[in-house]
Amino acid sequence: MIRRVIIEDIPQIVQVEDACFPVPWPDFLFKAHLNNPGFVVYEREKEILGYAIIGDSQGKAHLQNIAVHPDFRRQGIGTDLLEWCIDLVKLYGYHEIVLEVREKNTGSHKFYIDMDFEIRGTVQDYYLDDNAIVMERRI
Ligand SMILES: CC(C)(COP(=O)(O)OP(=O)(O)OC[C@H]1O[C@@H](n2cnc3c(N)ncnc32)[C@H](O)[C@@H]1OP(=O)(O)O)[C@@H](O)C(=O)NCCC(=O)NCCS
Repeated sequence: MIRRVIIEDIPQIVQVEDACFPVPWPDFLFKAHLNNPGFVVYEREKEILGYAIIGDSQGKAHLQNIAVHPDFRRQGIGTDLLEWCIDLVKLYGYHEIVLEVREKNTGSHKFYIDMDFEIRGTVQDYYLDDNAIVMERRI
């Protein structure tokens, strides 16, 4: 089930985040997004398996974070989360989604290409530990 986040989800979200990223977000960053209707979790049997956060950046929808716990990948959960986000921002009247992804994160590039995103450019040293690839998709 995909549903909006509640504050009680944050500890499990941080566990998933820690398992997914070399430089994970701390809990206060997730708490700062609690009022965002584009912050959603994928829950199965009371366990948070993944989450996504989509917001606004200069008039475009901006995918700020998406992650699925390593034990539950390649089951379509990331696709379901991203499609949920796309449906939401369409309702808000957005026509484009933009995101940044680590240059070294080639598995995620493939995920986004499969979801019809196109590469728009590179931002050097966007992350503490990597450059960013900027990707975009019309919706
Ligand atoms: C990117 C991520 C969210 C994808 O989640 P997921 O639930 O595994 O994605 P899906 O099962 O919906 O994958 C859909 C398709 O994307 C592609 N894909 C997904 N992960 C891939 C990988 N590691 N390598 C190659 N292709 C991949 C495949 O084509 C896949 O279809 P298939 O399994 O039938 O071959 C997940 O790998 C993740 O959490 N990664 C770590 C966090 C991260 O990098 N987030 C993105 C930051 S910008």
